[in-house]
Amino acid sequence: ATTLGASAQATGRYFGTAVAAYKLSDSVYSTILDREFDMVTPENEMKWDATEPVQNSFSYGSADQIVNHALAHNQRVRGHALAWHQQQPSWAQSLSGTALRNAMVNHITNVATHYKGKIYSWDVVNEAFADGGGGGRRDSSLQRTGNDWIEVAFQTARAADPGAKLCYNDYNTDGVNAKSTGVYNMVKDFKARGVPIDCVGFQSHLNSGSPYTADYQANLQRFADLGVDVQITELDIAGSGSAQATTYANVVKSCLAVTRCNGITVWGIRDSDSWRASDTPLLFDNSGNKKAAYTSALDALNSG
Ligand code: G3I
Repeated sequence: ATTLGASAQATGRYFGTAVAAYKLSDSVYSTILDREFDMVTPENEMKWDATEPVQNSFSYGSADQIVNHALAHNQRVRGHALAWHQQQPSWAQSLSGTALRNAMVNHITNVATHYKGKIYSWDVVNEAFADGGGGGRRDSSLQRTGNDWIEVAFQTARAADPGAKLCYNDYNTDGVNAKSTGVYNMVKDFKARGVPIDCVGFQSHLNSGSPYTADYQANLQRFADLGVDVQITELDIAGSGSAQATTYANVVKSCLAVTRCNGITVWGIRDSDSWRASDTPLLFDNSGNKKAAYTSALDALNSG
């Protein structure tokens, strides 16, 4: 096929992008979005600070704009993110202990209920593992409410929207390393104890410090073998030209080689839309022209 979404669909997968609500009125942006992608992730609009700026007072305007746009254009939605130590509203930052735990549960219940039936998969918990060699949890106010905060988050999301796939999402887990093994052990434990988890997201913000490695596919496969779907959730690759194009093709091929890798999302459309624009990490240049990376990603999808 001739677009990323249609080519991914031919393999039973999706190809998505992060979307910012305020860019939907930019016709260069929305033309590419609606031509190429069949899954969208709100880049910031569903985060805690955006959806609950005042405790127990919910604000869904920008996120609804993205969801309505998606549903009107045959695109599905990855919800992002219900519980995360970053981008919390200031009122939540000043809570701890039981008050914070209760606020988290109330938040998840409200947001997942508002979008019930409209979300393909939720990033229920984002970035809860520490960097470095320990393989343990990240210290955060949420972690200090008790080690069971992650399973409580998943149980709460399942109760609110039983039809959504529930994912754990993290970065620097894109190869076999101490951090990804920590996540692996948690998922294995959740499956053994019946904690509801359906998928694991691998952000794949790749650069020279965290490169694509030869064990990328094997890492996806070991998670899939636990009985969860795996998704590439925030892909961007620093660089340019043929080196960047080759890495995009390698990531796509790795996903296609894993039956339970059911989709890829890039973290923005044009390089200028990226959270790290100076790395020129995306598939379209600042004017919306297809880069070499686009062509190699498309070709890899079509050869799968
Ligand atoms: O909306 C305000 C605006 O009113 C204000 O004037 C401006 C001044 O700085 O800030 C604007 O908010 C910014 C927001 O993006 C929207 O552009 C925030 O400061 C900025 O921190 C925020 O950055 C986002 C970042 O998450 C926050 O942690 C990026 O757009 C977003 O791409 C990035 O995405 C994360 C994923 O959620 C999780 N994984 C890593 C990924 C990259 O960091």
